[in-house]
Amino acid sequence: MTDGAAPHPAKHDFRKVFGHLPTGVVVVTGRAPSGEPHGITIGSFVSISLEPPLAGFFIGRSSRTWPLIASSGKFCANVLAATQSDLCWRFAKDSVEGSRFGDLRIEASANGSPVLPGVIATVDCSVHSVQQVGDHDLVVGAVTDLRVLDGDQPAMVFFKGKTGDAHIDG
Ligand SMILES: Cc1cc2nc3c(=O)[nH]c(=O)nc-3n(C[C@H](O)[C@H](O)[C@H](O)COP(=O)(O)O)c2cc1C
Repeated sequence: MTDGAAPHPAKHDFRKVFGHLPTGVVVVTGRAPSGEPHGITIGSFVSISLEPPLAGFFIGRSSRTWPLIASSGKFCANVLAATQSDLCWRFAKDSVEGSRFGDLRIEASANGSPVLPGVIATVDCSVHSVQQVGDHDLVVGAVTDLRVLDGDQPAMVFFKGKTGDAHIDG
């Protein structure tokens, strides 16, 4: 619920403060009905429910890629390793080559979505629901398959506009 009298923080402050909250980074991939692969860098991916298994993320309503993936009704969240900042930025920017995938050697996840080389884990989902929340949509996915591909590598962390690694002592 919004309170009409609630103070409205400046966008600059909103971005700055949330920049201090570290997030993991995934590339949400999928295929358009034509079969063309698509992907977007996402920092808001999170587990939502264990029973039933649900996971989701927030996507900007101006995203050009999400509607293409959504039309197939399924996607895969590729969990990036700390060493994969090139993939983080590649899937956050427009490609000069036409496709963000370029010459990446992708494999197929259980639901047929692209799996990027070297990722730590994958989470396949069928689109469960999409709900408008402010200037983003909350995409909730029903998890259909999930696996750790390389659990020994540190995962990527995004913090204050930069990529780093999730280093845990011990
Ligand atoms: C680390 C990182 C995390 C991001 N997280 C999100 C996110 O959770 N939701 C979102 O809509 N965009 C997010 N973005 C921005 C999108 O990747 C970016 O706007 C992209 O260009 C959208 O592409 P599209 O217009 O082809 O969909 C993130 C970018 C970076 C670098």
